Amino acid sequence: MADVAEDGHTWLLSGPTSSYALHLTPADELLHLHWGPRIGLADAQALAESPPPGHRPFESPLDGREEYPVEGGPRFTRPALSVRTDERRGTEWAFESYDSAGDELRLRFRDDGVEITLHYRMRGDVVERWVTVANGTHARVELLRADAATWTLPDREGWRLSQLHGRWAAESRLTTAPLTYGEKVIGSRRGHTGHQHLPWVALDTDATEESGEVYGCALGWSGTWRIAVAQLPDARVQITGGAGHDDSGLLLLRPGEAYTTPVFAGLWSDGGFGGASRAWHAYQRAYVIPDADRDRPVLFNCWEATKFDISEEQQTALAHRAAEIGVELFVVDDGWFGARTSDRAGLGDWTPNPDRFPHGLRPLADRVHGLGMRFGIWVEPEMVNPDSDLYRAHPDWVQYRPGRRRTEQRNQLVLNLARDDVREYLWERLDALLSSAPIDYVKWDFNRCFTDAGWPGEPYPQRLWVDHVRALYALLDRLRAAHPKVAFESCSGGGGRIDLGVLSRTDQVWTSDNTDPLDRLAIQHGFSQIHPARIMAAWVTDSPNTQLNGRVSTLRFRFVSAMAGVLGVGGDLTRWSARELAEAGRWVALYKEIRPVVQRGALYRLRPPRGGLSAVQYVLGDETVVLAWLQAQRHGEPAPAVRLRGLDPTASYECRETGAVHRGAVLLHHGLRTGLTGDLDAAIIRLHRI
Ligand code: DGJ
Repeated sequence: MADVAEDGHTWLLSGPTSSYALHLTPADELLHLHWGPRIGLADAQALAESPPPGHRPFESPLDGREEYPVEGGPRFTRPALSVRTDERRGTEWAFESYDSAGDELRLRFRDDGVEITLHYRMRGDVVERWVTVANGTHARVELLRADAATWTLPDREGWRLSQLHGRWAAESRLTTAPLTYGEKVIGSRRGHTGHQHLPWVALDTDATEESGEVYGCALGWSGTWRIAVAQLPDARVQITGGAGHDDSGLLLLRPGEAYTTPVFAGLWSDGGFGGASRAWHAYQRAYVIPDADRDRPVLFNCWEATKFDISEEQQTALAHRAAEIGVELFVVDDGWFGARTSDRAGLGDWTPNPDRFPHGLRPLADRVHGLGMRFGIWVEPEMVNPDSDLYRAHPDWVQYRPGRRRTEQRNQLVLNLARDDVREYLWERLDALLSSAPIDYVKWDFNRCFTDAGWPGEPYPQRLWVDHVRALYALLDRLRAAHPKVAFESCSGGGGRIDLGVLSRTDQVWTSDNTDPLDRLAIQHGFSQIHPARIMAAWVTDSPNTQLNGRVSTLRFRFVSAMAGVLGVGGDLTRWSARELAEAGRWVALYKEIRPVVQRGALYRLRPPRGGLSAVQYVLGDETVVLAWLQAQRHGEPAPAVRLRGLDPTASYECRETGAVHRGAVLLHHGLRTGLTGDLDAAIIRLHRI
């Protein structure tokens, strides 16, 4: 619950180590006071009473100080809220009331029939913020822009911005650069979260992996989005973000309608980038990811092995091999439905292909269950191939603009999920599918971006950008409620839809189509900045790598790379030798032993993947697991010792691999030798506190 000062207009929210404070002036200006280490109410009040910075000509006294800068008045920063009615543009709000019942603080403002509510909630040290805008009386309110929150950083010199950038098969790669005056804008104009940026930024001035202040912000939205980081003329830094990629129109609100923004979460940590990651991971495990205390099974996925060439017989053969090596969940990927023998046809027709599965999916599902595994399938419900029964029956169900080309990507079009009939069709088809066979797992894919996002006849700003995501969420929620035992994977050509929004209704994500075990280390390093190993699916595939680069690597290197997340196997097991299968079986068995520590433990990035030795460590209770990889040994130098973290310096630890006993203080200060040599070598070291 938020604390309120005696003035009734200064609010303080606190987590275990941090606080957040804001203040309303008599002129109804909502000012930011504090975001950082824990403070008391008296400190917040002192901040509220401190004199404002001196005013400079051509500058705004409000810029850089407000909690949620609206459009209009003496402001020159990018507005978080931009509203237009038939009579007026911009906002001049009057404070109405606040309440801090439960764990949420709500501040209500009103401007001529438009009601604006700012929401705050502490989740551990994560501050969740979102906004509701409601049209009370106007014939129409155009929401041009409604960000979820604006974050204000304290005055410091030399801010640096870290972000996770990428593209298909190269997602979530970490980059850090000094912030300069002006704005840095990241986002997606593609209708989905996108491979290009994860909706996360982190700002620091001098943090290292394990020390220093880091401010992080992450958006929970799976559609088009924007985060703008601005360094203002007085060097103050603000970060504003929300759904939608520009300011030209998000939604039209009819009388009585309201828009609730996604959550924009913020985290302050003084434990460096590692401490910040661990806090993000703990937050997601506790508040975002469904059933996060249940470990994810080892899966097999047939995509790289079979592509579209699927048959019941061949899947059965793969299932036998998968069961032999200890796989727990067998997933049939693309190609089991409609006329889907290539990417040119079938999307939209969610019934089993009668040539390939003459008796439906049940016989295969039963066989997979008989082998002791769970059974999963792939779907891409938001899409349709023009060559499909669905499109032939309903060519107007897709997003399109009359008189314009319907742009195909991967030979497919995007269904307009804002339409009731489309949503109802998908619900019926997917519900029927999940009821037709014992299906335990759904890999939900999304393989193209929006290009012709139009809805003929609908007024502007058209709601299909926002409503598509709402419909996706509603469909997932409804399917989860109706089929509570089914787990869902979020996939979008690899990691094109990974964000806190989709994570609150899926059990894991497909991190990247790049299954090269070396490239993966960099992708996983970036991914771990925000998301935990518990959701990060990683497959061991064939060598040479068939998906991307033909790189040759040992099973050991491939397994240790994939064991850093939710282990999966994606190679063509029918071609693996008896020796390879036996070795794979040993790795899978080992993974099952370390799985609780990897999926639920605290993650320490010991050395980043920069060409030589890299390593991560997971700690859960008395158990520690270190995964180490050597990309290339140079000049015969031995791989350096890795200094461990998160251990008790006064305790001793027994290595399960060698039986050697190590002193905690020595592991922390001097480190552990991994013994890795040559190229692409890898090791797992398990330590038990004694
Ligand atoms: C893209 C996914 O990322 C792959 O794993 C696979 O499911 C294909 N789509 C299937 O079309």
